[in-house]
Amino acid sequence: MIMQFNPNIMATFPPPVMEARRWIEGVEFPADRPLINVSQAAPVDPPPTALREAMAQFVLEDDETHLYGPVLGLPDLRAEVASQWNVAYGGDIVEAEVAITSGCNQAFAAIISTLCAAGDEVILPTPWYFNHKMWLDMGAITATPLETGDGLLPDVKAAAALITSKTRAIALVSPNNPGGVEYPSELLGAFFDLCQTRGIALIVDETYRDFDSRTDAPHDLFTRPDWEQTLIQLYSFSKAYRLTGHRVGAMVTSMARMAEAEKFLDTVAICPNQLGQRAALWGMQNLEEWLGEQRSEILARRAAIDAHFPKLAAKGWKIQGNGAYFAYVTHPFDERSDLLAQRMVHDIGVLCLPGTMFVPEGDPSGDKSLRIAFANIDAQGIAQLFERMETL
Ligand SMILES: Cc1ncc(COP(=O)(O)O)c(C=O)c1O
Repeated sequence: MIMQFNPNIMATFPPPVMEARRWIEGVEFPADRPLINVSQAAPVDPPPTALREAMAQFVLEDDETHLYGPVLGLPDLRAEVASQWNVAYGGDIVEAEVAITSGCNQAFAAIISTLCAAGDEVILPTPWYFNHKMWLDMGAITATPLETGDGLLPDVKAAAALITSKTRAIALVSPNNPGGVEYPSELLGAFFDLCQTRGIALIVDETYRDFDSRTDAPHDLFTRPDWEQTLIQLYSFSKAYRLTGHRVGAMVTSMARMAEAEKFLDTVAICPNQLGQRAALWGMQNLEEWLGEQRSEILARRAAIDAHFPKLAAKGWKIQGNGAYFAYVTHPFDERSDLLAQRMVHDIGVLCLPGTMFVPEGDPSGDKSLRIAFANIDAQGIAQLFERMETL
């Protein structure tokens, strides 16, 4: 029998985090030098107790939790996002312009399905978020790499030069995964202007917005005239309230695009996870202070990375970006980063992801870089990480 496969999915690379997990399979880590896992950008702890208690109550007492709900999400949660976003960004988003999705990755997939057909193009700054690239590959949509270079900030003119008649969108991630950099408000504004002028969409994935070091609005895009014709914002409840396993995200876009996205969302999941949505709403309404503390802790960890880095800099390492959950660093070795990352598992008990997972195949910048997802290690863990990296 001949098995049939879709060539687009065959050409898509396998899930990078799973590949990295295989590197530690069967490896013994001595008790006095346990594995330091800085590979995944996900909280490892469960949601705070009060949220779990609220969730238990939903399970027991709110029967709707167990049923299908509206395709575009719980109206109360959509309204809460609209209202909190309007305070944070100074806009006038309405509930109908917000949808809840089964995680932010699904929001990206839904949005792309409303924008692109096979053969179309989406511009992604490199290093890119690998699931964005993977989703485009599966749909035979070209991910056009926009190189960023030192500092990891994309250049608007360079992006303009990449736009063709097939370009449907530019997709940015700020604060950035994997680069950690927070895109300045003016830069996002300039990208918005470019996209608006050229009649393409600007997708801004703000999964890490709750951990931005800035206290004022990270951009003014929701206050721009006709923002909804250009801007699409994506968000995740995974990091803020530690709800990764419950799969809740959000997207903000025009009502016209929402009607198209609804077709995708209905077909793929019918509705977002009902318990997760209730948990997200409860979190938004009750965990502001707790979330503020989480943000302070992440910012302290980021500062610890900066404080320790000179030791590595003395050995030829460079830091390209540091923020949100990530530091993106350049190593001094004459060795490809994917091989170095595997050697680090064995030599120093550290698992991180190589830059090769975040750039197009053959892009030499990936060979030199590593992503350190530091959100799950405390100050002491960060000190140990650096001690070990110094011995490489
Ligand atoms: C930039 C970015 N977007 C989306 C996601 C996925 O979020 P979710 O768990 O809500 O699907 C991640 C998770 O790492 C991410 O880094």
